[in-house]
Amino acid sequence: MPNESMTKPIVTIVQHIREKQRAFPTATGDLSWILSGIALATRIIQSYVRRAGIADVLGEVGTTNVQGELVQKLDIVANETILRCLGYRDIVGIMVSEEDDEPTIVKSPTGQGKYIVLFDPLDGSSNIDVNVSIGTIFSVLRCRDDLPESEGATPHCLQPGVKQVAAGYVVYGSSTVLAYTTGNGVHMFTLDPSFGAFVLHTENIRMPDQGKMYSVNEAYLDSFPSGVQDYLAWAKTPESGGYGLRYIGSLVSDFHRTLLKGGVFMYPPTAKNPDGKLRLLYEANPLSFIAEQAGGAATDFKQRVLERQPDSLHARTPLLMGSKSEVERVMGFMN
Ligand code: AHG
Ligand code: MN
Ligand code: MN
Repeated sequence: MPNESMTKPIVTIVQHIREKQRAFPTATGDLSWILSGIALATRIIQSYVRRAGIADVLGEVGTTNVQGELVQKLDIVANETILRCLGYRDIVGIMVSEEDDEPTIVKSPTGQGKYIVLFDPLDGSSNIDVNVSIGTIFSVLRCRDDLPESEGATPHCLQPGVKQVAAGYVVYGSSTVLAYTTGNGVHMFTLDPSFGAFVLHTENIRMPDQGKMYSVNEAYLDSFPSGVQDYLAWAKTPESGGYGLRYIGSLVSDFHRTLLKGGVFMYPPTAKNPDGKLRLLYEANPLSFIAEQAGGAATDFKQRVLERQPDSLHARTPLLMGSKSEVERVMGFMN
């Protein structure tokens, strides 16, 4: 008797998004075309990640990027792979990368290029050389239709997270997992390396509403806001019922665990990063969209991340996200 995996339908990302989009008469299949470009790029990136030590993609390039961070070889490989896989797709007008100072205009935003793809090509770069899970994060916006050509690309990109039409991430972990949302639930796929396709395994993921787990780099405890310090002190007392701490140091992996197991992830303001370290457009916004679509919450310790108006391409934001009741609990300590 064949087991269930031999009888369950094989649904790839393009099929899935097309099925989901059928419910929207105005859907044009554009998003499935963009998602298939991202799926292609991340299949190529994971092939380098799995061979990093022998594909000569470990270590630093010797330069620093616009973030002031040392660029890893794999950052560049991932960045160039995404640009090459998406740049050719006629509906992509602008691409924004953590690794590039300025947006890349691939098609005129007032012409064919209707969409903007914003991405962190390789998240968790400090973990590459020690073989710890890393990932790719992406966000999709529509170009604005109220801007003259003369305005250039950046004003099209500075839209709040509520304007996203799609978002997702890929975790290059013990397996390669892709999660995406177009505002119609969060759906998760695993790459089947035997034939190189992402195959659907869970639709409409729900983030557990509770979670006795917090994820934060407590090395910066002294410079956290006092409300965060009070929450972390409370979590260590018997009255809290006992919490666990998990911190991988790759946002995408810490988020993926929080999405599946519940709890809370925090990158608060610190002395070194008074506006937080994580970038709004291609880290916080896409993961906040996913968190909310899964029934969780995401704030900047004051307001919904998705309502934050970006003032620059690489703007940073404090980030508090996870199970709704846990985020509310931290916010309670903040107030
Ligand atoms: P990136 O590698 O894209 O620069 O992102 C690294 C980020 C994020 O992945 C992670 O949550 C955070 O840096 C870890 O920062 P600390 O080492 O300061 O904890
Ligand atoms: Mn990152
Ligand atoms: Mn990165």
